[in-house]
Amino acid sequence: MSRMAGKVAFVTGAARGQGRSHCITLAREGAKIVGLDICHDVENVQYPLATAEDLEETKRLIKEVGGDSVLVQGDVREPAEVAAAVEAGLAAFGHIDTVVCNAGVWVFGSATEQSLHAWKDTIDLNLTGAWNTVQAVLPSMLARDAGGSIMFTASQMATCGSPNASAYAASKAGLVGLMRSLAHELGHRRIRVNSIHPSTVDTPMVQNQWMYDLIAPPGKGAGDAHDLENAMAPMHILPVPLLPAQAVSDAVLFLASDESAHITSVALPVDAGSTQKLG
Ligand SMILES: NC(=O)c1ccc[n+]([C@@H]2O[C@H](COP(=O)([O-])OP(=O)(O)OC[C@H]3O[C@@H](n4cnc5c(N)ncnc54)[C@H](O)[C@@H]3O)[C@@H](O)[C@H]2O)c1
Repeated sequence: MSRMAGKVAFVTGAARGQGRSHCITLAREGAKIVGLDICHDVENVQYPLATAEDLEETKRLIKEVGGDSVLVQGDVREPAEVAAAVEAGLAAFGHIDTVVCNAGVWVFGSATEQSLHAWKDTIDLNLTGAWNTVQAVLPSMLARDAGGSIMFTASQMATCGSPNASAYAASKAGLVGLMRSLAHELGHRRIRVNSIHPSTVDTPMVQNQWMYDLIAPPGKGAGDAHDLENAMAPMHILPVPLLPAQAVSDAVLFLASDESAHITSVALPVDAGSTQKLG
């Protein structure tokens, strides 16, 4: 399998969930992987984030499929930390041509209850973090002058919105504006820019006790994974409760590979039809 032969992919949020799945999928197809993850919890996020052990496990799994990686701990909110990861990747592999701005957090709160601090944190992490990622990697991509592919993991909520998700939805909708602008700005250099819009994906972001309790029917007490599935399944046209991370990775692989050489400025739903169903 060599759909990514000769390519080097930079994936943020690489320690677990979709990011890990993207790393393994791209590595299996021949890409070298540069990965970044914060590997600790973040204030105002109500569930645990990844650990250093998770990032190590991603490295092991990349190796298991015959891949090579440079994985670094760092925070996408900190430009210097993103730049350090890019530098480490360039030192190891010479160039980066594929960028997956995947790091993100789900922050829940009503418009009347959510603090300004939580709002700013969400925008800073999900939107400005992606901007920092692009800014860190673009100079070397442009200097190399060999094109490339930049992707943003947005969300179905960027277009549909959701109650109690104003900050999250706004941060993800912001990624669409960023994506569309960069597509115009970078197209003449053969750098393609697209966003991916998943519905609910089976990762630790949603598979956690805090989310189960949030989504459990009123009066039930402690929630569980069945409550999550029961709540999410009706949103899809296709008969699936949650999407596997691999479903998103398959879209990432397509947009990263030369098979999508003529596709840019696309906001691609990977959502089992939920955007159409929800309107
Ligand atoms: N799971 C879903 O239902 C779902 C649906 C739509 C979109 N998304 C988006 O998909 C992306 C991946 O999420 P996931 O489902 O794999 O969740 P996840 O929580 O399993 O993975 C997110 C990863 O990002 C890392 N991260 C968080 N903040 C970071 C920071 N400041 N710097 C660097 N790394 C950081 C975390 O440590 C974690 O490893 C996110 O952008 C999320 O918003 C998720």
